[in-house]
Formats: sequence, C-alpha cells, structure tokens
Amino acid sequence: SPVPNVEYAPLDMRTRSWEVERNDVKVEKIIGKGAFGQVAKGTAKNLPLRSGATIVAIKMVKANAPESDKRDLKSELELMKTLKPHPNVIKLLGCVTESEPLLVLVEYVLYGDLLGYLRKSRGLNDTYYKDPDIKPKTSLTSRQLMKFAWQIADGMSYLSLRKASLSVVHRDLAARNVLVGETEICKITDFGMARDVQDENIYERKTKTTLQGRQLLTEALDQDTKHVSLLEWSYGVVLYEISTIGGSPYPRMEGRKIATLLQQGYRMPKPEHVDNELYQIMMNCWQSEPETRPSFSDLTQQLKHMENQHK
Ligand code: ADE
Repeated sequence: SPVPNVEYAPLDMRTRSWEVERNDVKVEKIIGKGAFGQVAKGTAKNLPLRSGATIVAIKMVKANAPESDKRDLKSELELMKTLKPHPNVIKLLGCVTESEPLLVLVEYVLYGDLLGYLRKSRGLNDTYYKDPDIKPKTSLTSRQLMKFAWQIADGMSYLSLRKASLSVVHRDLAARNVLVGETEICKITDFGMARDVQDENIYERKTKTTLQGRQLLTEALDQDTKHVSLLEWSYGVVLYEISTIGGSPYPRMEGRKIATLLQQGYRMPKPEHVDNELYQIMMNCWQSEPETRPSFSDLTQQLKHMENQHK
C-alpha cells in the first residue's frame, strides 16, 4: 500500500545525536507527573543545535519504576526523534540515555497544562467546575477556546499520520495532557508509545488510566475494537473540558456506572451554556461506531472555521 503522507523528520534530524552530557543538565524543580514518572523544570547546556543554556522540561522515570515505564519513555523518545517539529506537538530538545536514569529533554511550556489553565481562567475562588449547569466565568474568549480546540485536533491529526505507520497511540488524550505556551498555543504531550497496540498489557493500562481520567470509552470494554478511534472519542471529552472551562466529565457519576450507561447509549448532556454546534461535534466524536467519528483533519477544519466565525 502507498506510504501515507507522513512528514518524517529530515534524515539529519533522525540520525544526528540528541545525546547530552548528564553534567550539562540541571534539574531545578519537579513541576508535574507525566505518564511515565515525573517532569522537572531545569536547564541544559550544549543542546544539539543550540548554544548556551536553555530552559527545558525534563521527563524522567524514577530509578525504582517498573521496566515497562522505562520502555514507554524510551519509545516516546524514539518516536519524538522521528517527528518533524509541529507547532502543536511538544518538541524534543535532547536526551541522556547512556546511563540511568533516562532523561528526555523537551521544550518548556510556560503556562503548564490546559486543564489548570482553563480552571485558573475562572478566577481564584471558583470551584464550580463540578457543576456543568453553572455558566463559568472566564477571562478567555470563545474565539480563544475554539483556537485551543483546533490546535489540539491539528496536533492529533499530525500524530495520527504517524500512528498509521508506527502504531503510535496516545495513552491518554485529555486537557491535562495538553500544555499551553506563550501566545496561547496548545501543545500535545505524553503521546509516546510506539508499541504494538495489540499488546494486552497496553490495553489494560489504557483502560485503567482512562477510567482514572473519567474518559470512559465504550471500546475500552470491547476487546475487538481498534485502538485508533479511541482518540477521537477522547477528543470529544477534551472539547467538553474546553467548553465547560475545565469542567469534570460525567459529574457526580461513579466510574462503573458510566461504563454501563455509555454502552447503553448514554452521552453527557449539553451543559446549557455550551454552543449547539460545538456540542454536536462532541456527539459526533462519541458515536458508537468508530468508523463514523470525524477524523482529526475534519475536526481541525471544522473548528478553524468556527474560530473565524467568532471574530
Ligand atoms: N508539565 C509537563 N510537561 C511540561 C512542559 N514540557 N513544560 C511545562 N510544564 C510541563
């Protein structure tokens, strides 16, 4: 079959050494937990193609972490090496792999994760993100929200081109795995896992993390379904998180019940203040039949168009 239109990194990017001396990396403080361990803020000297010190985010796995976590971070690294930079996907800057612990250096993204960013935009004292019927206050315009939405779809669209050829799956697409940078640009992070999606182990873990994130997926209960379309479903939940300014999906519902309800056709109702057109897009992402869900490139086009209508 023809090779999909994938933007592989130029050869020099794939073959050049990303390796950095451990002594040139300074961990300053832990800023979060990633899929495979923790993320620190720090600085690195002598990065490939950069002189001087650069502020970086350092992804690492604790020394006593399970081997599978180390393998996951390693495969995320290998995947990143092959990607040509995309504005909406976190960019690799270097790595330390010659000795343990493995360090993966990526661009430091100023405003942290999108979920926190959305919730902060409500103001300091708002804690009503658990009630979708209360219209949240926010300092963000609906145009800005649409821009976040299409940028995430665009990044996913880019990653899903690789997915076709490399079985790249995003473990857990959710607002907390999207970072917000300067000029309010969204960047997808924690997307690595260039492993065989048939691997049962992944399936189990995927189900577990998604349950934790309340990103319940009907296919998570259906062993036969392809993994690929889980992401379109998750994207619908991200749209819900964006349009409710950091709301919690399936508010006041218990994990196990949600799964059963979804299988019976239940979907999150439209919060009153959410735009009809946007809600329709979420519902399209939550179609039972994976084949009928919109593709990420369709979603990008549709949401870009909506952004422009919000002028
Ligand atoms: N949290 C997790 N990854 C990050 C990054 N690359 N930049 C800033 N905060 C982060």
